[in-house]
Amino acid sequence: MQKKIIETTVEIYSFEELEEKKQNLINKAKEQVAKAYAPYSGFHVGAAIELENGEIFAGSNQENSAYPSGLCAERVAMFYANAQYPEVPVKTMAIAAYTNGEFISEPITPCGSCRQVLLETEARFEKDITILLYGTKNVFQIGSVRQLLPLCFEKSNLKS
Ligand code: THU
Repeated sequence: MQKKIIETTVEIYSFEELEEKKQNLINKAKEQVAKAYAPYSGFHVGAAIELENGEIFAGSNQENSAYPSGLCAERVAMFYANAQYPEVPVKTMAIAAYTNGEFISEPITPCGSCRQVLLETEARFEKDITILLYGTKNVFQIGSVRQLLPLCFEKSNLKS
């Protein structure tokens, strides 16, 4: 038997110690929660994306009375950005969540389906995407989507 240990590095910052560009992207994600359509969960999520060309796109979760038809903020933002700039890599994504009248104190991480979608963009452009997860106490920074989704299924697995 052999063992393989897989590591994920999470850097933990206070908001104030982040560089201004990252603070600005987080602020965009925070602004975006106000535009979420989340009447069923009351959980409002905002995601903001910076592309390599400096363009910024943002999205929020969009729920539906047929629950599985809704979409998370991360996928709304990522599909929006990829649809507008199919040739431009994504540099950074910031995520914020608001519920019960306040921003969450500990960051949330993207759900499994979103990780798979974000990974596709990272792999498509062969460019790591920095993920910033906002909480009022801490901000988590993760250097790539791949770190969030180890042992993933991807394009290379389709080759026989
Ligand atoms: N949600 C997101 O938009 N992003 C996440 O990272 C986690 C969950 C949404 C989906 C649903 O509208 C609500 O939050 C509760 O799960």
